[in-house]
Order: sequence, then structure tokens, then C-alpha cells
Amino acid sequence: MDKLVIEGGVRLKGEVTVSGAKNAVLPILAATLLTDEHCVIKGVPNLRDTNTMLKILRSLGKNAELNKGKVNIAANKHTNHVADYKLVSTMRASFCVLGPLLAKLKKAKVSLPGGCVIGIRPVDLHIKGIKSLGATINIESGYVLAHAAQLKGSHIYLGGVYGSSVLATDNVMMAATLARGETVIESAACEPEVADLANFLIQMGAKIKGHGTPIIEIEGVKQLHGAEHTIIPDRIEAGTLMIAALITKGDILIKNVMFQHLGALIDKLEEAGVSISITDSAIRVCYKRRLRSINVTTLPYPGFPTDMQAQVMSLMAITRGISVITEKIYPDRFMHVAELNRMGAHIQREGPHAIVEGIKQLSAAPVMASDLRASACLVLAGLVAKGVTTVSRIYHLERGYENIEKKLQGLGAKIWREKE
Ligand code: EPZ
Repeated sequence: MDKLVIEGGVRLKGEVTVSGAKNAVLPILAATLLTDEHCVIKGVPNLRDTNTMLKILRSLGKNAELNKGKVNIAANKHTNHVADYKLVSTMRASFCVLGPLLAKLKKAKVSLPGGCVIGIRPVDLHIKGIKSLGATINIESGYVLAHAAQLKGSHIYLGGVYGSSVLATDNVMMAATLARGETVIESAACEPEVADLANFLIQMGAKIKGHGTPIIEIEGVKQLHGAEHTIIPDRIEAGTLMIAALITKGDILIKNVMFQHLGALIDKLEEAGVSISITDSAIRVCYKRRLRSINVTTLPYPGFPTDMQAQVMSLMAITRGISVITEKIYPDRFMHVAELNRMGAHIQREGPHAIVEGIKQLSAAPVMASDLRASACLVLAGLVAKGVTTVSRIYHLERGYENIEKKLQGLGAKIWREKE
């Protein structure tokens, strides 16, 4: 197992290019189960999670290979409808094979995803949505067993306790593409990754309207054909790099970015006194003056993304003043707080709130990553801390950031990998 070693204090400077979006490529790879025809997916990031999804597709009988950012899925009649616990338990997103398998093979047996450190993550909305399309669903020995001779279109309200669900919207939308008649998903997730999935499905011949809004309409078709698609850029990676520029008082040009997907983050950073220059496909973030403390509340898109909460906390930890960070999607998503406090931060947790009292400088320490975004937060803290920080369990980071240490090295960071 590897760890990252970071010598803090370097102002990051230069250009960096963002990879394709993890949270778009995973459901899009699952969607290829809806056809027997050849598919080509481009702009695919080489991540642990991408490779897990490819393993799952292969276990379901697909011939899928990733090569230099391109996934080729050969045409073939896949028949296996069982997504095994061994693979599904390592990555929750694999649960979104349920909809495509059921729609294509009329049956699906998918392991229930295991627990997760960022919070209780039930799948009740997925099951409610799939049932509304006329499927029978049973839970047996940790598996969801779904059957439907023919799925039927339906009007489904998919809002949950914490608002809309990204993967539940994906699962139901994919299943509805081959259902008889029209489906309307109300309180659908509006994330750009959901819209990117819908665009891929439309290229496969699906009839979908309203994707990217809370009301999605799907007119079922008899079958879908192969297609070619390029994945949207990863807005969370872009956001993480924007924070890297600010926390190190640096100046970075971030390329391959769709600024439209970063509205809430840009708004909050401007409130903190940051000036950001935007072009069609790039964002320049240059530290010019002392930042102001800000309050942040995470919400479903287009609200402030929960996947940027930890990274913004590392910035507020060294920004003078008090910031209140409220987590409304995963109220327990605060594993990074204790690790930041080990680096000298002054952060107090109060239920779904973290009260951050900014200090002058963090001090380096050995810290441990607990989940993907917490690990990004600790790397950012290490970039600015006094001394040499080690971040262990970086397999979490590799799940969602492609070549992050090389990208940071390219901006001047003193960061390297060592065996634990
Ligand atoms: C997606 O997860 C992302 N993952 C997550 O990113 C992201 O944090 C999350 O959306 C919210 O933006 C992928 O796209 C692969 P949800 P998802 O269903 O779809 C509750 C990262 O760091 N809920 O939108 O699993 C749930 O518990 C990852 O890249 C139910 O109650 O999240 C949560 O509180 C982490 N019942 C809220 O809804 C359900 O059936 C939103 O979850 C489903 C969800």
C-alpha cells in the first residue's frame, strides 16, 4: 500500500488539464448493458472506480477494455444478470447496473451495496423507482432480485429525505428507456453527470427530454443501438484544483473545464474575495489578496456540491475568521475534521455543522484518508502545512483522481509516493 509525502509551502503555478468525470463515466459504462452493439466511450479517466466498473461489465459477459482514455465495448449478446457482491461491495456506483440489466434481460440479481464511511446510503429510492416501472423486487441474502417480463412507463416521484438522488435517477432513467410507454421522473437529480448519461442514451436511440431539470420524460423504445460518446470534464477535480491554487497562494490555469458546472463553487469563492477568469474551456485562479471566511451549505445540484465540502474546509481552516460548513446531503461526512485538527486546525463539529476558526498556518503531520474527498482535503492541507505531511490509505484518492500527484508535481508541488 502506498502513501503520499508532501513538503508544504510551494506556491503552485502553471497549467493543468482536467480528466473526464468519474461520476459520469460509471453510469455511462453501465448503460452499455442496454445494447448488444459496439460502443466507444472517450475521455475515460484511468481510475480505480473505472476499472472496477469494467471488471463488473466483463463479469456480466461484456468484452470491455480501457486503452489510453478510450473504452471499446465489443458487440456481443451478454446474458449474465448477476452482479456479484465481491465487486459491487467495493463500489456503490455499481448498483446502477440494476436498471440496465433488468430492462435488457428482464431479470437482474445485484448485490446490495455495503456500508460507507460518509453516511448511511440506502437504496430505497432506486427500488421504489424500479418497482414503479412494474418490476417485482425481492431482497434475499444481501441481493436485490428483480424481474419484469415487460417494464411499463409510469409517473414516479423520486425525491428523498435529502432531496434528489443521482444514481437512483440514473438507474430508473436507464430502465425506462426500454419500458413500454412514457415515464416521468419527478424530483429527478439535475447533476451534469445525469444529463451526460441521458445524452449518451439518446445517442443510443433513447427518447428522453428534460434531463438536467427536476422533471425527466422518457418515451420507451423497443431496443437501443451502439454509440460513441465523449465524457464531460470532472467538475469536482476542477474544483479541487481551484482550491489548490488558492490554498498555496498560487496561480493556475485549469484546462478542459465547463465553468457552467461550477456555478455554486465559483459564487462562494467570489464571496470569499477570489477573482476568477473564465474562458470557454478553461478557468484561471490566481491568489491576489487575503480571503474572507464564508459559510457553505451543501445541496443537490445546482447547489454547492457535497463532493467539494472537505476541500473548501481545508481552505477555510487557514482563512482568518469563522466559517460554518453545513452538510445537508450526508450529515456525517466529516471524517476529515479530526485529521485536519491533527494538523493544528481549529474545527468543531456540531451535528451536520462544522465550525471552522481559521488559523495562520497548519503544521505537517501523518494523517489518514478515510474516503475519496477527505483524501483530497488532506492533500490540499499538506500542500500548505509547515513541514512534511504523509497521507496514508491513498487508494481512496486513486478512486477518483487520475495521476493527481503528477499533475500537482507539474504545478511545482513537492509531492511523491512512498511504500507504507
Ligand atoms: C452520487 O452518489 C455521487 N456518486 C457521489 O459522489 C455524490 O456525493 C452524490 O451523488 C451526491 O451528489 C456517483 O455519482 C458515483 P445520492 P449517489 O443518491 O447517487 C440519499 C464522490 O465523492 N438517498 O444522490 O449514491 C443518500 O443517502 C461520490 O465522487 C436515499 O435516501 O448519491 C444521500 O443522503 C461520493 N435513498 C442523498 O440521498 C436512496 O435510495 C443523495 O444521495 C438514494 C439516496
